[in-house]
Amino acid sequence: MSNLKLPGLIDIHVHLRTPGQEHKEDFTTGTSAAIAGGFTTVLDMPNNEVPITTLGKLRAKIELARQNAVCDVGFYFGSLGDNFQEFDKIKQLVFGIKLYLNVTTGNFLIDEVKLAAIYSAWPGHQPILLHCEGETLPMALKIIRQTNKKTHICHVSGKDELSQIIRAKQAGLPITCGVTPHHLFLTEEDAKKLGPYGRMKPFLKTKTDQNFLWENLKWIDAVESDHAPHTTVEKEFAKNPPFGVPGLETTLPLLLTAVFEGKLTLDDVIRLCHTNPTKIFNIPTDEQTYVEIDPDEQYTINNKHLFTKCGWSPFKGKSVKGKVKKVFLRGEKVFDNGQILTQPGSGKVIYPSF
Ligand code: NCD
Ligand code: ZN
Ligand code: ZN
Repeated sequence: MSNLKLPGLIDIHVHLRTPGQEHKEDFTTGTSAAIAGGFTTVLDMPNNEVPITTLGKLRAKIELARQNAVCDVGFYFGSLGDNFQEFDKIKQLVFGIKLYLNVTTGNFLIDEVKLAAIYSAWPGHQPILLHCEGETLPMALKIIRQTNKKTHICHVSGKDELSQIIRAKQAGLPITCGVTPHHLFLTEEDAKKLGPYGRMKPFLKTKTDQNFLWENLKWIDAVESDHAPHTTVEKEFAKNPPFGVPGLETTLPLLLTAVFEGKLTLDDVIRLCHTNPTKIFNIPTDEQTYVEIDPDEQYTINNKHLFTKCGWSPFKGKSVKGKVKKVFLRGEKVFDNGQILTQPGSGKVIYPSF
């Protein structure tokens, strides 16, 4: 079959680690991984070494991306409940505000009182994104019910959580949710074999949980890679290996393989990785930004071929079908047959279009 054309895909959940943790990833390597994986836009999380909670820190990060990115990059803001005076200054610059209600990478945890205060203070044009799993989800749903503010629940991983979200959607709450490729394609059985390389938040779940995600794909708004690189040294030698796995280069081939297996359609992939993200987050798009894939090419995921600086994948050794061949950004060919053709800084920093 000839190449298939897809719109440039959008990953609404990545951690490109800059500034502060450039040993894990930087804007050039992270956005090269995006391009190689068929993603032309990524939205980057604020849990940097020093969290992005002020206009100054956001501006500094934007400048680094402007100089170094090869795909388009947008940002989320962060809050520990003590920076409300910044909200008006940054609200036009970010795609949302990200809040962490459970322990994960970065020292960035807030409690119910702070959550309620942030919900009241957030201007509300762009969504509030939540890392909430287990007991923090009902608490968050209560506050969403009280404030009616647009909220995106990140990386939903289990049956219980997705059931609660479906019920909340049916009740009319303004919520959307995303799932990660690792929760769609790996389970706790894989976690045992992968050791630290299968360690992320939320943890990998049971086959029953995974099946429930697939059976309820129509309730899921986005596939988000949660690209969260850590070095092999950190994973293997730290006493408590950090949570997180990379995903930008494996998400699309895994999804295309699932299309081939009849688990979802190509239209689902476009809905989950392009159309819904543009609508939920007001992401600007360009007709001349697109991806060409060879739907028939079969290959094995190989750490040696990755652009991500961390240099590993939990999907190493997996055979996939469907390969990104060419990527065009605003009409310019930026990727061809495994080669990035463009220079650092050729990507744009993007802002929500209202
Ligand atoms: C993420 C990271 O490393 O920044 N880790 C993870 O396990 N998912 C943080 C997060 O998204 O929770
Ligand atoms: Zn998270
Ligand atoms: Zn994340």
